[in-house]
Amino acid sequence: MKSFFVSSEVEPFAKTGGLGDVSSGLPSALSALGLDVTVVMPLYPVVKREGLEKLPEELEVQPGNRRRAFSIYRGETPGGVSILFLENPEFFGRHGLYGDERGDFHDNALRFGHFCAAVAQLAEAWKVDLIHCNDWQCGLLPYYASKRGIKSLITIHNMAFHGQFPMEFAAELGLPLDNLGEFEEWGRLNFLKNGILRAAGITTVSEGYAEEILTPEFGCGLDGVLRSRAGALRGILNGADTATWNPLTDERLPARFSARDLTGKARCRAALHDAFGLPQTPDPIIGMVGRLTEQKGMDLVLSGIDQICSMGFKLALLGAGQAEYENAWRGLATMYPGLVGVKIAFSENLAHLVEAGSDMFLMPSRFEPCGLNQMYSQSYGTPPVVHAVGGLRDTVTDPSESSDPTGFKFTPYSTEAMLGALGRARDLFRQPEGWKKMVTTGMRRDFSWTLSAKKYEAFYKTIL
Ligand code: ADP
Ligand code: GLC
Repeated sequence: MKSFFVSSEVEPFAKTGGLGDVSSGLPSALSALGLDVTVVMPLYPVVKREGLEKLPEELEVQPGNRRRAFSIYRGETPGGVSILFLENPEFFGRHGLYGDERGDFHDNALRFGHFCAAVAQLAEAWKVDLIHCNDWQCGLLPYYASKRGIKSLITIHNMAFHGQFPMEFAAELGLPLDNLGEFEEWGRLNFLKNGILRAAGITTVSEGYAEEILTPEFGCGLDGVLRSRAGALRGILNGADTATWNPLTDERLPARFSARDLTGKARCRAALHDAFGLPQTPDPIIGMVGRLTEQKGMDLVLSGIDQICSMGFKLALLGAGQAEYENAWRGLATMYPGLVGVKIAFSENLAHLVEAGSDMFLMPSRFEPCGLNQMYSQSYGTPPVVHAVGGLRDTVTDPSESSDPTGFKFTPYSTEAMLGALGRARDLFRQPEGWKKMVTTGMRRDFSWTLSAKKYEAFYKTIL
């Protein structure tokens, strides 16, 4: 079985969020199981070209009325998986993956639509049996692939992003103008809807989210479409890439540590305080890393910050995203000097330091398809405090659920409930024995990709 794993972002080449992590970790794990998998992504200017080999073949793609050319470069992921980069300067020769400071690129429909058409054409030439698509950027790929008799599976990482565009793009993308129903939702082109309808199999990134998205509350308007394909939908939990996220080998940290010897964690804690301009006190420090958007529960933290500080916590936040949240956080750093440290940036090094150096990790997401940071934080001895939703509910164990808890969960989605969970975390933090047990229990949990990769392998076989 020959497969393509297609994604708009793959770490360490280009990443804006968890999709990049998954697109590097899952193909490595699939290949370790012996599967013939090739990763495919667009060639953006951020991708370093040294070491890439330009292939002699060129792709001439014409889904609609205009022809576009793609060149192909071959490289290898750090996990040793073969990766192809498709180059088209008109669509991908600009800075930013999906947009820039002015917002989303106006031609994203054409950029990712043509990318999908190119991948389908290449898959046919290379005699690929199965195409694994990811998110709306690959939404039209199951359609183009099915026209060439190739089976596909689509993984939904976030129902909130559909890839919605004006219908006018349909002609240039070669969509059947007399029968656009399966491409259309609320009068607009909808890439994800078509992917859901056309793919032979559908997965999402946790079992909890697979149930949630069949309801109007979490389905973002496509729950009816998903219910019509419920038989083809599976929830398969993401893993963590243990080559990148392992406190015992992490080169990005000032010191390394393990569940057996936590001394290195104390050095990371000190470095975190320095990096965020906070005084080295024994009070618990909460870490947060993430996109500053509504999804991530920013409103709960902003409304509860006064109590968080008066409960004896310090807080270190690393994030970037919506301007109003970035500004609000900058304001908090000024209002609570010595208690709230803020870095508005996208920095892998700092992300690793926050995971390793914090005492606990806060993820109050309104919804969370899977979430990776709460898994990383458990591996790094930093118990997470999370809203019990989606993948957060599936991956964190609360003291109320087991005698071997790894963190704290709260529900409903409210500031009071979040503060209640933080209070329980602080109380346990003050009991060194109990706290250490939670820390080391989380560190010993297996979040590796192996089990999930086997589930994908089994699903690939069912589809074929
Ligand atoms: P999402 O994909 O919804 O953003 P995830 O928890 O699945 O959430 O994954 C987020 C990934 O992006 C993690 O690897 C996290 O460390 C990383 N990340 C998010 N924001 C930043 C940032 N500001 N700097 C560095 N890494 C970040
Ligand atoms: C999305 C989701 C996140 C998930 C990630 C990787 O960005 O928001 O919850 O972990 O994709 O699947």
